[in-house]
Amino acid sequence: MRDPMSNTYPPTDAFAKTAHADAETYAKMYADSMADPDAFWGEHGKRIDWIKPYSKVKNTSFAPGNVDIKWFEDGTLNVSANCVDRHVETRGDQTAIIWEPDDPNTTDAMHITYRDLQTSVSKMANILQDLGVSKGDRVVIYLPMIPEAAYAMLACTRIGAVHSIVFAGFSPDALGARINGCDAKVVITADHAPRGGRSTPLKSNADAALLHCKESVKCLVVKRTGEQTTWTDRDYSYNDMVLEADDYQKPVEMAAEDPLFILYTSGSTGQPKGVVHTTGGYLVYAAMTHEYTFDYHDGDVFWCTADVGWVTGHSYIVYGPLANGGTTIMFEGVPTYPDAGRFWEVCAKHKVNQFYTAPTAIRALMAAGPEWVEKHDLSDLKLLGSVGEPINPEAWNWYYNVVGKGNVPIVDTFWQTETGGHMLTPLPGATTLKPGAAQAPFFGVKPVVLDPQSGEEIHGNDVEGVLCIGDSWPGQMRTVWGDHERFEKTYFGDYAGYYFSGDGCKRDADGDYWVTGRVDDVINVSGHRMGTAEVESALVAHVKVAEAAVVGYPHDIKGQGIYAYVTLMNNEEPSEDLRKELEKWVRSEIGPIAKPDLIQWAPGLPKTRSGKIMRRILRKIAEDDFGALGDTSTLADPSVVEDLIENRMNKS
Ligand code: WT7
Repeated sequence: MRDPMSNTYPPTDAFAKTAHADAETYAKMYADSMADPDAFWGEHGKRIDWIKPYSKVKNTSFAPGNVDIKWFEDGTLNVSANCVDRHVETRGDQTAIIWEPDDPNTTDAMHITYRDLQTSVSKMANILQDLGVSKGDRVVIYLPMIPEAAYAMLACTRIGAVHSIVFAGFSPDALGARINGCDAKVVITADHAPRGGRSTPLKSNADAALLHCKESVKCLVVKRTGEQTTWTDRDYSYNDMVLEADDYQKPVEMAAEDPLFILYTSGSTGQPKGVVHTTGGYLVYAAMTHEYTFDYHDGDVFWCTADVGWVTGHSYIVYGPLANGGTTIMFEGVPTYPDAGRFWEVCAKHKVNQFYTAPTAIRALMAAGPEWVEKHDLSDLKLLGSVGEPINPEAWNWYYNVVGKGNVPIVDTFWQTETGGHMLTPLPGATTLKPGAAQAPFFGVKPVVLDPQSGEEIHGNDVEGVLCIGDSWPGQMRTVWGDHERFEKTYFGDYAGYYFSGDGCKRDADGDYWVTGRVDDVINVSGHRMGTAEVESALVAHVKVAEAAVVGYPHDIKGQGIYAYVTLMNNEEPSEDLRKELEKWVRSEIGPIAKPDLIQWAPGLPKTRSGKIMRRILRKIAEDDFGALGDTSTLADPSVVEDLIENRMNKS
C-alpha cells in the first residue's frame, strides 16, 4: 500500500511475516556481510552442494596491476549436480522447467520434471562428449528459447565444458566473431527459431558464420520447426544422436574457480568482450539472490521473461531457480504475440507467482491498454520484478496498479552481465519501495559513490556521482576471456581500488540508491546493452560511408534509441534507398537490435582542432536539447553544428 505523504510503499504485513528477510533480518545480515565476508559467505556458500568443501572463502584483490578474484577456491563441485541431480532425490516429479512455445495455438506447453531433466541433460552431455568435447573446451550455444538450450547449458557444466551463448538475434558475423573469440569446438543451433510468429533461419546463419571459422568446428543441429536446412560434413543431428545417447552421464568434479561460462557483452570500444564467470561463487550468488530478491519459496512458479542469450536468462531462468529446486518458465515468444495479452495469459495459465521483466516491455504493454491485463486472472502473482534500465515512474505505477492491482511489491533490480546477479535491489519483505530506485545493496555488496573528476569517495547522503563497488562479491566476473589486462583496464583502470560500473548514481537523503544511466559510450536499447563504437564500426565498414558517429536519444518505448550521424564518401548522394541499405547493413553486421532508429546525413561532424569528435554536442542535438550545447569554441569548424541542428531528424 502506498504512503501518500511520501509516495513510498512499505512492505505488506503478509510479506514482512513470511519473507526470507524482513527489515530487521536484512539489516542484520547486511551488516554481518560487511563486517566479516569470510564468515558470512562461508555460511551461505553451504546452500549449494560441494564435492570437496572449501576451507578458504574470500581471496580477492582490487589492487592496481594485481586484480585477482577467488572465492571458495579450494572447494570442488558440479553445477548440473546442484541444479538437477540433488533435486531428483527429493523432488524428482516436480516440474523444473515449464516451456511455453511461441505460438500457443499450434504447440502445447511442456512440463519437464527434475527427473526428465536429469535424463535430457545427461543425454546432451553424452552427445557433446561423443563430439569430442571435454573439460575446459568451449561450446557456443545459438538456440531459440527451447528446452534444449537449458539442456545444453547444463550439459556443458556436467562435463566441465565452458558455454558461450550467443543470442539468436545476432547476425552470422557476430556469431562467427564469438565462435572464434573463444575458440569453440562445437556450435549448437536449431533449424529455425520461431519468434512472434516469424521465423529466423538459425542454421543458415550458423553456416554463414562457420565459413569464417576453423574447419574442425562441429555443428550440432536441433530440430525445432522441421523446416529444410542445408547439411554439411560438419553437421550432426541432435535428434538422431539423442536416440542412441546414454541416459546417465556422471557429473565431473570442477574447481570453484574453473570457468563456467563466457558471455560476450558490449563496452565502450568496438570489440565486445567475453565476460568470464566461474563455477562456485557464481552459483552461490545466483541462487541466493534468486531466493531473497524474489522471495522465492518452495512450490512457487517463477517467470523471468528474458532470453538465455543474456545474463538475466543465465542467472534467473536457469542457474538461480534450478539451484534452488524451483519451477522456472522458459518462454519462446514475445510480449505481443499472438496479442498484447500474451504475458498475462501465460501468467494465468501457469499460475505464476513471481514475474520478472524489463521496463521496455512494460511500456509497450502499457501503450496497448489495461484491457489486455484485465482479461486474465493474475491472482497468483506475489511479486513483480524489473531489470535492464531505470524504470520510469509512469511505467512503475502502471505495473504496480494495473498488473499488481496495488498489492504486489515491485523489485527494481540493478545489476550487469559482469556482476552475475543483483547488486542493488529492494527486498520485498524488508524495503519500503520508492518507484524508480534500485535502492539498497544486496548482501555482500559495498556500493560507493565517487566524484568522477577527483575519484574521491563521496560520503554522506543526498549526493551524486559515479557508482563503484568497494569490494568483491562471489558473483563478480573474474576476467575478460583471454585478456586479463583489458579486464583490469576496463573495470579498475578509472578508479584505482574500485570496480567501476559505468553507471552514474545518486544516494538520496535516506541513503537509497538511484541509478541514473551509463556515463560511458554505452547505450541501453530496450534493456540491451549496445556500444556506440560497435555500431559506428559497422557503419564505416560500408563502402559508401566515410565516417559515422552514434549516440543514444530518449525513446518512448525502448528507453534509448540509436541515433547515427553518417558522413558519406565524396561521390555518394544521400537517399532513402541508401538509408534503408545502411539499416540493413547494420542488421547484417551485428543484428536487428543494433539497427539505427534514426540516421542523419552529416556533411561534417563536429570535431576539435585535434580531430576528436565532440560527442557531447552530438548527444545534445539527438536529445533535442540545443540550448545546452555548451562550449563550442574549441570546434575546428563551428558551422558544422548549425547544419546538424537544422537537419536534425524527427523523433517520431
Ligand atoms: C546495464 C547493464 C543484468 C541486467 C540486464 C542488463 C543498466 C540494468 C538496471 C536497473 C537502472 C539498470 C545499467 C547497467 N541497468 N538494470 N534496475 N536500473 N539501470 O545487463 O546488458 O549487462 O547491462 O544495464 O546501465 O550498467 P547488461
